[in-house]
Amino acid sequence: MEQDIIIAIDGYSSSGKSSMARSLARAIGYRYIDSGAMYRAVTLYAMRHGLIDAEHNVDTKALIDSLPDINIDFEIIGGRQSTILNGEDVEDEIRQLPVSNNVSPVAAIPEVRHMLVTLQQACGAKKGIVMDGRDIGTTVFPNAELKVFVNAPAETRAKRRMLELRAKGQDVTFDEILSNVKQRDFIDENRAESPLRRAEDAIDFDNSNMSIEEQDKALLNLFYNKVNK
Ligand code: CDP
Repeated sequence: MEQDIIIAIDGYSSSGKSSMARSLARAIGYRYIDSGAMYRAVTLYAMRHGLIDAEHNVDTKALIDSLPDINIDFEIIGGRQSTILNGEDVEDEIRQLPVSNNVSPVAAIPEVRHMLVTLQQACGAKKGIVMDGRDIGTTVFPNAELKVFVNAPAETRAKRRMLELRAKGQDVTFDEILSNVKQRDFIDENRAESPLRRAEDAIDFDNSNMSIEEQDKALLNLFYNKVNK
């Protein structure tokens, strides 16, 4: 019986890494942790408490002072994994564009990152975990046994996200999604605190021309190659 490992899936916004990570975890019986959902939940908290203005400026000091009051958890509700913010299921709300438009400045705050990275590392203490994000293979689990870096052109990613949000009944345009995707890529790559970077030992994974089934199968193969070596 092989040892459980840590799998880090990083990549650009809307690259499909979350669905890849989730289905890999399901296929191999590992836990799945969506680190982006944690940054989104903190952002929602800040928005609800009036700590972000219309120009996406964050009241950094007030948010840092509030961090001890923010509790984030994951629970399976109705068959799907939901993000719980201070006892409330916020899974739907954190996926909407207003949160997407504010999340990258919040995720650039070092104190926010320290709190969430500590939480993420605790989730991986027993291994047997798939975590997706921007800095999982570099900062959260630099010793992860399998690291994958997912990418596809911005237009391809924006189109996927648009179809996903429209399928949920949200009225969004391609242009607003593309602009959000590019804006977040820029902030995520250029922030001082653990920016989005491909870990040197990560495997590049461009899924532009893959169906969902193909990408799931390719990722599963990477896992088996790793554990059966
Ligand atoms: O929309 P998408 O699935 O691409 O993003 P997400 O994975 O939900 O992450 C939302 C945002 O959180 C990103 O744009 C980053 O600004 C931030 N994030 C981060 O800084 N570090 C992580 N490990 C995960 C997300």
